[in-house]
Amino acid sequence: MRKIFLWMIILTALTAVAACLNTPNQQGGNTPNAAKNAGGKVRIGFSMDTLKEERWQRDKQLIEKRAAELGAELSVTVADGNDDRQNKQVEDLLTKGIDVLIIAPHNAQVAAASVASAKKQGVPVISYDRLVKSDDLDLYVSHQVTKIGEMQAKYALDHAPKGNYIMVYGSSTDNNALLLKDAQLATLKPAIDRGDVKIVAEQFAAEWKAEEALKIVENALTQHRNEVVAVVASNDGTAGGAIQALKGQNLIGKVVVTGQDAELIALQRIAQGEQTMTVYKPIQPLAYGAVDAAIKLAKKESVATTDKIKSVNKEIPSLLFEPKVIDKSNLSDVINDGYHTADEIYKNIPANQRPK
Ligand code: GAL
Repeated sequence: MRKIFLWMIILTALTAVAACLNTPNQQGGNTPNAAKNAGGKVRIGFSMDTLKEERWQRDKQLIEKRAAELGAELSVTVADGNDDRQNKQVEDLLTKGIDVLIIAPHNAQVAAASVASAKKQGVPVISYDRLVKSDDLDLYVSHQVTKIGEMQAKYALDHAPKGNYIMVYGSSTDNNALLLKDAQLATLKPAIDRGDVKIVAEQFAAEWKAEEALKIVENALTQHRNEVVAVVASNDGTAGGAIQALKGQNLIGKVVVTGQDAELIALQRIAQGEQTMTVYKPIQPLAYGAVDAAIKLAKKESVATTDKIKSVNKEIPSLLFEPKVIDKSNLSDVINDGYHTADEIYKNIPANQRPK
């Protein structure tokens, strides 16, 4: 009898110790985090909207590379522009068990549900490149988006100070598109007020699609008898659509066209004089910054930030990287950075006409 009693005491004590060991992982009453300690690896979920633009393919590769370097386990999902799919994919990641979520949302509002789900399970969340409109975020990692909008509009003003402008914004579901639009319009305002610049057409290009931009610019050119001096396109994809429309009217090289992303095809167009500028956003610091921060958040360590960005009502600690204007005069900056090679960029330029 005494023996049984002794065993009961030992068993109770062991159960209590086991419960204590599990406690730190059982945030929010759920258990998916338990495996982190079992394998010793931090498990990161990366929920992406799309791989359509070249830059996102690079983001994916670099996030994979950094996670592997640091011995983290990474699961990547891609929603292909579908809001329900993105929320469902995040649910699946959470069910499978992740210690931290990085999300590049398709829709700033809809993705707030994913952030809420993660937080309910005690999983910290980083909004990546695009802000999710949620005050539950732990961190926002991006480039200085407002500055990009200012750079695009300022470049256009410097190179086409007077005349009719077409504004091609990005996808209205993407917070970046809204920030760019606001920054572009604020930068153009004094010139508009002076009567130097007139915006003759302005529209969001659904899903940042080149075809949408093509239609917007084609219609505006027809309506204004080709009297246009600049197309402020928010990224290189939409710049491509705009350039196709300008080609149709023999306006190539006569109209300033802005962009963003330093996509190879855009840099080739810049080299050929078809596109005027792009904004280069080095992806490596962004991707590595996000993975490094994710691991810290998963381990409940603090992350050094550079800024604060307001989401809904709350300021979210943010890590914002510097963008850079690229035009024909400094294509070498992108080359020296190893982002694209000179051979790739000058592919369509005869060897004797390439810069030395
Ligand atoms: C933006 C992003 C850009 C561009 C665009 C289309 O949010 O900042 O770099 O890729 O989406 O995906």
